[in-house]
Amino acid sequence: MENRNIADRNLWALILGCSSGFGKETALELAKSGYNIYGVHLDMGTNKEKAEQFRQVLEQIGVKAVFFNVNAADDKNRADIIEFIKSQKAKDPNHVLRVVIHSLAFGAIGPFFSEESKEMLNKRQIEMTMDVMANSLIYWVQDLFKNNLLAENSRIFAMTSIGSERAIISYGAVSAAKAALEAYIRQLAVELAPYKITANAIMAGLTATPAAAKIPGFEKMLAHAREQNPFQRNTVPQDVAKAISLLVDEKFYWITGATIKVDGGESILNFIETV
Ligand SMILES: NC(=O)c1ccc[n+]([C@@H]2O[C@H](COP(=O)([O-])OP(=O)(O)OC[C@H]3O[C@@H](n4cnc5c(N)ncnc54)[C@H](O)[C@@H]3O)[C@@H](O)[C@H]2O)c1
Repeated sequence: MENRNIADRNLWALILGCSSGFGKETALELAKSGYNIYGVHLDMGTNKEKAEQFRQVLEQIGVKAVFFNVNAADDKNRADIIEFIKSQKAKDPNHVLRVVIHSLAFGAIGPFFSEESKEMLNKRQIEMTMDVMANSLIYWVQDLFKNNLLAENSRIFAMTSIGSERAIISYGAVSAAKAALEAYIRQLAVELAPYKITANAIMAGLTATPAAAKIPGFEKMLAHAREQNPFQRNTVPQDVAKAISLLVDEKFYWITGATIKVDGGESILNFIETV
């Protein structure tokens, strides 16, 4: 594990889910602070073009941005990307991967029980949700660790939601994945502390993003969250990006294994059951 002066290093952030929502805004915020970005996303059609345009925006800021448009939960894709990062590190002794962000939204939304059995989430959908939205965090961090790509003071973040603690209509599989994700974060915090690496979950308030829009009744939930929020507005991706940009400060590492709410106080109030 390395620990050199900040000025000597080329700092990189690996963002899983970099083309939209929280991942995208955090990539932008970190790029403005001088971080180079490895981004993984899964987009087709016009979204694919938008992702490439966003990559160019990052480069215009003056950092390097390398994007991979692949399924981040696939073992072969992960291995290929890790090999690429290794090759970059081999070429550049100042290369330091300081930040890893898991912000993948790829869950099956639907009920566990319905009179129409075809509507009920099945084993494949539940396992896919757990794999992409929770287990993949561990596989990525394990492979980065095994390949000596994490550094002293690296920071790991995973995006969780209030679903880890509450039941939300049609959100059962994602809720389970979020509970698992938070447990994984605690475990990473314990097992990686000897290497001076921290891991935290960020619990954002309800935010208008493409993934969230797929939750049935989302518009109503959003309006209610806004009314209930002490600041009378919804969370926006920039709120999370700013929180992460503060938490990456390497002078401070004493928050680890935590689930940090970034929601303007929204979760203090009990809104979800009233929707
Ligand atoms: N939006 C909310 O209200 C909210 C609140 C709390 C937590 N979250 C969590 O934040 C995370 C990000 O969600 P978002 O709202 O920013 O969604 P989003 O749809 O705006 O972004 C999702 C990103 O993940 C990428 N992606 C999805 N599946 C992928 C896969 N298999 N491989 C590679 N990339 C993939 C997409 O390309 C995109 O870049 C999710 O884990 C979500 O559960 C969202």
